[in-house]
Amino acid sequence: MSRLKVLVTRIIPEKGLEMARAAADLDVWQDEVPPPYEVLLERAKGVDGLLCLLTDRIDAQLMAAAGPQLKVISQMAVGFDNIDLAAATERGVPIGHTPGVLTDTTADFAWALLMAAARRVVEGDKFTRAGRWKTWGPMLLTGPDVSGATLGIVGFGRIGQAVARRARGFNMRILYHDPHRSPDLEQSMGVEYADMDTLLRQSDFVTLHTVLSDETYHLIDDTKLGLMKSSAILVNTSRGPVVDQAALYRALANGAIAYAALDVTEPEPIPMDSPLLKLDNVIIAPHIASASIQARTKMATMSAANLIAGLNGDRLPNCANPEVYK
Ligand code: GLV
Repeated sequence: MSRLKVLVTRIIPEKGLEMARAAADLDVWQDEVPPPYEVLLERAKGVDGLLCLLTDRIDAQLMAAAGPQLKVISQMAVGFDNIDLAAATERGVPIGHTPGVLTDTTADFAWALLMAAARRVVEGDKFTRAGRWKTWGPMLLTGPDVSGATLGIVGFGRIGQAVARRARGFNMRILYHDPHRSPDLEQSMGVEYADMDTLLRQSDFVTLHTVLSDETYHLIDDTKLGLMKSSAILVNTSRGPVVDQAALYRALANGAIAYAALDVTEPEPIPMDSPLLKLDNVIIAPHIASASIQARTKMATMSAANLIAGLNGDRLPNCANPEVYK
């Protein structure tokens, strides 16, 4: 019997590749940057499985180009807004993803961004390197306290809750907003539910942990930014398009809010002529919230396990479209 064929759209941690290699012949895209869409269409032809990343557009056309033998699409990420789920379900193709293994890692990074923005760590480093550090200054690079402040968490899933656990250690008042209200969690975690506008009005820090969907696209726009405190800090480790970036620029430039710390932008990478890059009151990281060695290794092995299950016709351990099994 000839071996199954799998396209892997980037070099992923070796443990994952090793597992996948034992199950199929791999065509691994070797570049640092993702395959252009046209190339993806070409390389996907005839494959039994696809191991992809959030940087790949996986739509109906691509699935059709792959062909009817395509058994599984396994994404090495928890988010899957780059994949047309409905099209996959219609073709009977299960989609794998990697929830759970990057929860604490991502929450750690959201926390790092929050702390770095509040206490101006990145600005401080630039200041030192520019030779501007003359003496200890009574008002030098002051920022707001994190301890005891009010934190607003938008999207209270796994990662949002993990951020709340960190905030408890800082004695914060914690507000959350989510389509699903959870009285049990309110009790056990000491968090308060708030409607979106109240959360924005009352929070000193707002951190975003929603999925990207039609409902959350440009959720944070001029109006919403206008509700926030002028001293507020916005953290985004979810998806870039959850924030209207032009509106964010206006808010930061006009002092409608104080600071932003972003791990995600629209588009990615952020164009070098983006006006945001001219501002001192924004930190922009290159989508690295899940980039711990341990989390990325687990994401790779988990996506390989999903891939292998799909190739064998077994139910995926972590499936984004379970309706495919109905
Ligand atoms: C990263 O952004 C992920 O969705 O895993």
